[in-house]
Amino acid sequence: MNRTLIIPNEIVTADSKGTILKNYAIEISGTVIEKLIPLTDAVIKSFTGEVVYADNLTVIPGFVQTHIHLCQTLFRGLADDLLLLDWLQQRIFPFEQAHDSNSLRISAQLGINELFLGGTTTLLDMGTINYQEVIFEELTNSGIKAFAGKCMMDQNDLFPTFRAETKDELEQTYRLAKAFHQTSGGRINYGFAPRFVLSCSEKLLIETTEMMKEFPGSIFHTHSSENKDEIEAVRKLRGKENVEYLNSIAALHNHTVLAHCIHLNDEEVKLLKEKETRVSHCPSSNLKLGSGIADIPRYLKEGISVSLGADGAPCNNNLNAFVEMRLASLIQKPIHGPQAMDAETTFRLATIEGAKALHIENKTGSIEAGKKADLVFLNLEKFDQPLSEENIYSKIVYSASKENVEHVMSEGEWVVKAGASLVYNSDELYKKGKEELNNLLKRVGSL
Ligand code: GUN
Ligand code: FE
Repeated sequence: MNRTLIIPNEIVTADSKGTILKNYAIEISGTVIEKLIPLTDAVIKSFTGEVVYADNLTVIPGFVQTHIHLCQTLFRGLADDLLLLDWLQQRIFPFEQAHDSNSLRISAQLGINELFLGGTTTLLDMGTINYQEVIFEELTNSGIKAFAGKCMMDQNDLFPTFRAETKDELEQTYRLAKAFHQTSGGRINYGFAPRFVLSCSEKLLIETTEMMKEFPGSIFHTHSSENKDEIEAVRKLRGKENVEYLNSIAALHNHTVLAHCIHLNDEEVKLLKEKETRVSHCPSSNLKLGSGIADIPRYLKEGISVSLGADGAPCNNNLNAFVEMRLASLIQKPIHGPQAMDAETTFRLATIEGAKALHIENKTGSIEAGKKADLVFLNLEKFDQPLSEENIYSKIVYSASKENVEHVMSEGEWVVKAGASLVYNSDELYKKGKEELNNLLKRVGSL
């Protein structure tokens, strides 16, 4: 089994006490962090394995992003400046419908590459209607940790040809969950993904919540209460508020992750708390689509689980956890005051809270003995100003970006070294991406 000893400048563990360690080494055995050990010459001398000197680097846990659309990476920059329902109708649904397995594969690869390069080692993906097994293949081969599932849509008033029959959606979902849940040594898991209430019949939603029971540890992942026109349409369709409706069909529980949750009434906030339902907060997407600002300080005060996600490339237009942390903090300050969403709180949302949202805090989200070695090595000396020693969280959340990411390790394997991907040839990926995008746009033209 591979053994590695990492010797960094400091370790920001994100453990329950928020411990920061200096003069400590991380001992890794295979995929797992064996222990954190006080650094002495004797420790280094007696170590049999690779010793990695990273004494100018800060090690943090790999980021966990709880709402991503890998299938949309190829559409970056092609759907700007639109409100959610227009964005879906005019751009995203036609583009997703035009995917073939080649364009979907490159879109997933581009997304995973970008996530790794920015220090994200775990994601919850929303998938797409067709060729979902391609996304699973790419997640499996890349070495990233993921919950993913086929996006389900059995009704679609916005773009009526982009849907499938209820029976087929459920059958395919079941087949994929059987094939991929808890595979790759538990690295890949199923995230049931009915897209949003407007795209799902009641039968589809109810049978999905039933089906989940056969797959312990799986997640129910959907969009909710993102946009005012969306919730008005849900009200018309179901006679209820979005979250209230999901509760009425038993879809709210502690394995449910709801992306956005911007427009909620008091009763709905209470429901999220009671049912221990998880909120995936997507600040860039919420701003760019003009959707609104979720009252995250209130949810946190209520004890509701909140984690972060970049959403898809065409509504962001980055897949970068640093951007989401910075915005998650800054957008609340004009509303709640500058103390709101301090840097450490925000850092935890992007790491350990993401792992807790997915019930994998025994595996990732912090740097502790027994967890997977999901590590990000930051060079924080890359700023214009000399850095003070204080408040490492301030540096990470307010100043740092993906340019500070030097190396990334996912389950003990190097996936980024010296700022370059070891999983993909980035230049080739961009070239192939361009070709596949051109082909896809031709197919959209002929729809
Ligand atoms: N609601 C339904 N589908 C989507 C999507 O693809 N992105 C976002 N942001 N919201 C959605
Ligand atoms: Fe989304």
